[in-house]
Parts: sequence; C-alpha cells; structure tokens
Amino acid sequence: MKKLLALTAISLPALIAGASQRLVPVSTFNTQIIIGVDSAAAPSLVYYGPAVRGDLRQAALAALQGERQAAYPVYGNYPEGESALSVTMPDGNMTLDLIPAGEPKTECDHNGNSLTTIPLADRHYPVSVTLNYLAYPKEDVIETWADITNNGKKPVTMTRFESGTLPFRSDNAWMTSLYGTWANEGRVNNERLTPGMKVIQNKDGVRNSHTSHAEVFLSLDGKPAETSGRVIGAALLYGGNYRLRTVTDDHGGHRFFAGIHPDESAWKLMPGETFSTPRLALTYSANGMGEASRNFHRWGRNYHLAHGTEVNPILLNSWEGVYFNIDEPKMAAMMQDIADMGGELFVMDDGWFGRRDDDSSSLGDWEVDTRKLPHGIKGLTDEARRRGVKFGIWVEPEMTNSNSRLYREHPDWVIKAANRDIVEGRGGTQLVLDLSNPKVQDFIVNMVDTLLTNNPEIAYVKWDANAPVMQHGSQYLPADRQSELSIRFHRGLTSVMERIRAAHPDVAIQACASGGGRANYGILDNFDEFWVSDNTDAFQRLGAQWGLSYFFPAMAMGSHISAVPNHTTFRIVPLKFRCDVAMTGRLGMEIQPRDMSAQERDFCKGAIGAYKGFRDVVQLGDLYRLVSPFDNRGAVSLMYVSPDKQKGVFYWFRTNNDYSAPLASRPAMQGLDPEASYKVTEVNRIDLTPLPYEGEVFTGRFLMDNGLEMRTSHDLEWGKKTDYCSRVLLLEKQ
Ligand code: DGJ
Repeated sequence: MKKLLALTAISLPALIAGASQRLVPVSTFNTQIIIGVDSAAAPSLVYYGPAVRGDLRQAALAALQGERQAAYPVYGNYPEGESALSVTMPDGNMTLDLIPAGEPKTECDHNGNSLTTIPLADRHYPVSVTLNYLAYPKEDVIETWADITNNGKKPVTMTRFESGTLPFRSDNAWMTSLYGTWANEGRVNNERLTPGMKVIQNKDGVRNSHTSHAEVFLSLDGKPAETSGRVIGAALLYGGNYRLRTVTDDHGGHRFFAGIHPDESAWKLMPGETFSTPRLALTYSANGMGEASRNFHRWGRNYHLAHGTEVNPILLNSWEGVYFNIDEPKMAAMMQDIADMGGELFVMDDGWFGRRDDDSSSLGDWEVDTRKLPHGIKGLTDEARRRGVKFGIWVEPEMTNSNSRLYREHPDWVIKAANRDIVEGRGGTQLVLDLSNPKVQDFIVNMVDTLLTNNPEIAYVKWDANAPVMQHGSQYLPADRQSELSIRFHRGLTSVMERIRAAHPDVAIQACASGGGRANYGILDNFDEFWVSDNTDAFQRLGAQWGLSYFFPAMAMGSHISAVPNHTTFRIVPLKFRCDVAMTGRLGMEIQPRDMSAQERDFCKGAIGAYKGFRDVVQLGDLYRLVSPFDNRGAVSLMYVSPDKQKGVFYWFRTNNDYSAPLASRPAMQGLDPEASYKVTEVNRIDLTPLPYEGEVFTGRFLMDNGLEMRTSHDLEWGKKTDYCSRVLLLEKQ
C-alpha cells in the first residue's frame, strides 16, 4: 500500500450542528463525506455526495434525525441490524459500545491528499477503533478503513471486521457488479436493489476475481447509465476472501458493507495488537458510471498500480504459441519475430524449469531445465539483447506439485489440514504453499530475488497462481490460530511482494491467476497489470474488457492478439478485428508468429506501429464507453481521449451480422474539446476505398453531437469479405 508522505496537520473546519454534534468533512475537489461526531455517541455518516458549498449544516439539517446512520455500525446495542465489527471480550461479552475517544484529526501530504482519523473507544472494555478516511482530491476518491486495537491484558476474538459501510437512500437503487468464471471473466450484472440482503463474495483463498468481483457501482437514480445519474463506486482493496453486502429495507434505505470474508476467519487480537482492515475505496459521480470509472482509473494509475504513470512495452508471450514445448531455438525465433514486428518485450511462459513438460510437476523446483535451455536464462537474455527486445519470464511462486523436489523436502510447507490427506489441484498434483509460514515467505522471496539478481536483464515477470485453497489447514499455525490462515496467507503474500518490489523496483510484474483471478486493487499495488482472461478470443474479450473497465484502467489489462481458431472458443475472428480489440487495452501478442503468413505479420507490424503512436492515449487517457456489448445493440464502441484533449482514439466493432438488423452504427463521441478541430484517420485500414471522412476535419462539438456513420462491412474483394467489421479512428487536434 502506498503510504502518505510527510503528513502535516491541518485545522479542521468542524462545525457545531446541534447541541453536541461536530461535523467532520472529508473532502475531494468535487465530493464530500461528512461524519457527525457526538461526544457521547457513536459517530454517524451524515452525508456522501457532491461537495457541499457553504454551510455544512445544510447536509445535516436536510436529513431527518432518525435517518442518521452509524458511520461504522458495531455488534452491540440493537443487535438486530447488520454490523461491520463484532468482538468477543475475554469475559464472553459479545457486544461493543463505541464512543469518541479524542479529537478527530486531519493531516495532509504534499500531494494534497488528506487523512482524517476519528478515534473511538468502548465505553467499558479496553478496545479502541480508529476510523480512517483518506481523501484524494484530484481523483475524487476516498479510502476508508478501521484500525482495531486491543488495549487490554487478555486476547479478544474478532469474528467480523469489515472495512467500511455506506448508508444511502434511494427509492430506485441499482447495483452493477461483475461475475463470471474461468475464461468468462468480467460479465456485467445490473439489478435493482429490493428489500433483503444481496451478498457478493469470494472464498477461493488465492484468486478472488474469476467469479464475483470486490467492486460495485450503486446507481441511485434508477437503471445504471454511462453519462447520467448519481453513482457511488466502491472497490475493496483486498486480494483474499471478501464479502460485500447490500442491505435494503422497505422504505428506500440501503446500507452497503465491504470487508474480509468472516467465514472461518476468527482473529485472536492479542494485548497491544492493532488489526487494520483492508481499505475500501469510494468514488461519487453525479454523471453516471463513466465518470466514476474515470475517477477509479486516475486513482488506480496514480496510487495503486506499479509504474501506473508510464506507458508499457508491447510484448509477445510464448504460452499459446508453444505451451510447454519450450526450447532455445523456439524462444530465439519468437524474440526475433516480435522484434521484427516492432514489439519490445518477449516473455517466456510456463515450462522452463524442473521437468515441467506438462502441468503435473516441478512447481517449486525453480532451476532451469537444461534439456530445453542449455545456456540457461543468461543464454536467453543474451539472445534478447542481440535482437533488441527485453526479456520476461513466468513463475508461479505460491505453488508446488506433490511431484516436486520441494514437496518431497518440505511436505510441511503446503496448506493441509491435520489428519487429512492432501487435496491436489491442477495436473492432479498441484498444491498451495502455506504463506502464513515465514520460512515459505523467505523461500519465495529468495527464489525470485535470486532469479532477478542473477539475471539483471529480466525486465518483466508473469506471476501466475493456478489453484484455490483446496483444504483449510495450516501446518505452521498453532491450533488456536487455524482460523487465521486465509488472512495470514494474504498478509504473507503482501509482505513477499513488498520485499521483492523493494529490491527490484523497476521490474514489471503481471498478476496472472488462471487468467483474470487477480483483478483487484488489493493485489495490484505491487503489480503493473493483470491478465484479463485465458480466453483470448477477441469477440469474447470485448465483453470481459468492457466489464473490467468499470473499475480498472486499460493499462492494467493485458490484451493480446492470438491465433485462430481461438484455443478456447475455436471461433475464427479475422486478424484485423483481433488487432483492433487488442489495441483497446495493453497490446501484446499470444501466438506463434511462425504460424502466421508474411502478410499477417506485416499487418501486425503496422498495427503495433500505429499503437505506439497513440498508446499513451489508451494507457494514460480517459475512457468513454459508448455502446455496451451487454446492451445487444449489434455493435460495441468506446474511445479514449488524452487528458489534454489533443488526441482521441475511437473504436467500433460490429457484433451482430443479421442482415438489416438495427445497429448502433453512429455513436456520438464523448470527451473531446468541443471548440477544437480534429482530423480523422482510420488505423489498421483494410478497405479498398477509404471512408468518406478519411483525413477530414471535424469539430469536437460535431463529433460529440453527431458521431460519424460507420461503414458496417469492409469494402474488400469478393471472397475476402467476412462477417466481421471493426474500425479504429485516430482523432488528432489540428
Ligand atoms: C495459466 C495462465 O493464465 C496462462 O496464461 C499460462 O501462463 C498458464 N497458466 C501456464 O501454466
């Protein structure tokens, strides 16, 4: 987690609202949370919305007294309601009663980010809680979390310890969330919140975003829309098991909860110990989901992605090209091929170590297989340097196989319950290492550190994780701490990553977890990107990347051109469409170039060259989603605009080829400077005749009012036409 720098206290413009209530504002440029702090009662969340200009009391007076909601509800008095924190005291008392225990404080760092802390303590027992609100003014994001401290002499047990909660009112509230499965990540679900509780959770133990996601949008004005309506965005920054809940009553009251999943995770808080929950990031938009996404993207790039403000190299990854059949000549040929196509990085995937000819052995035995690579990693980095590309390598450090030397030597290092047989995963032999064990953490840090230190030319690491926790049990943790395994695994992983990052700050690291299992801001602090999905079918990627774009910027999403028939769906998508889709994200390749024709390689070379000319717009610019793949409008469209509005890139994909079907063929553009003029140039053009507006100049206002009519099939020779059509238009300010 990136820390605040050099905090300076600033005076709190807190006001007295009633007899005893102080209003504590947490402010970004455009939004505000207001906490009401009474001297003798639990603090309440008075307001979250557009920044209140003028007297803050307006926010407090506008709500009815009875509408005041606890800022952090605890299990205690009135236990019928849902709570965020539940603690059992040494004498068996299961209730908490928190009241303020000192002055709220706000400190600011030199970026202008401010941390507001509200200290609370139990009226009777020595348990204290600090509520934290970290505001990023420029990004309009506020992170909140709780620090729970045992100030007593005996341990207390926490059975629920959520990061934050948010009450909100709406008679027509909707929730947008992501769901999916392996190879079908990032599907979008929109549903109206009805009385009762809606739970979104993940208990995989290792990968927490294949299925549900720990991020949601809450739309307060009816069905979610891109450019209108009030939207609260919420993202839990946690790589492990989580639970999000929305509790809806029968008169328009809702409360959102987010935190570590409490199931089987009771935590013994020792005297003097503080438990910090993961952070919950909130953003607010009065203009629909598009703005909420852009807020998250800016905040993610600036504060939660490694190297989030630099554009990324274009790579070729070996997996779908050669799978486990790695050898020196093939690797060298792929390096040459990606260099010839203008790429900048080659990544060698699984299969280079131990006796790893398939997925049933060798994880943990991280020595080069000299049958395949007689000159070791050094031989490969030498080759890469000669060919003018950087070199990257695949590892899966949290795992082993029962068929490995590591497991034979350290059977006690794997996750396993006492008196139970091991449960094996991928390849029939995969096991998860017990990262709660400091020796396992040291082993992983040492392995990765040695690899990177001995091979300083490794510029990129693909960090994979292909198994869930398949049995609950730590051979390291004592009997009375078995329930802490899930949390301690992730604390162990975070510590491992921080140690590796400290030693190798410049290396790019991809979070891959059987595809998109690690798309979460809790893990991304130490990673540069995540692998969206093992499904590289361009058509399916339109949906996955769209869904994930709600919360994650394009630069975080590995998006590769792969072969046809696609290896997962067997769909045959033309190369242009595949290139165009990959160019909406962090462009790369996942293919054996030797299986491509010279013409296809030339096309990719052109696409890579074009992408280099505008990748800063895609990776660092603002995203505008225009036509959703989930709305069945026969087309998908999106665009990026550079922050200075000098350049834009517009994408359009035909997704329904029924003859004469209604088609969103002229989406109005967004995000441009209305007063400026933009020249339109088609990228990756294959048509025999140019579009009528090729090279022409339009005002930003015209493009945003009217859009440009798409030619909905490619003008090609008879026999070369397919049922696919896509357009990429570069917009350059004149
Ligand atoms: C799963 C990943 O998602 C793939 O890209 C590939 O790296 C394989 N693992 C390798 O075993």
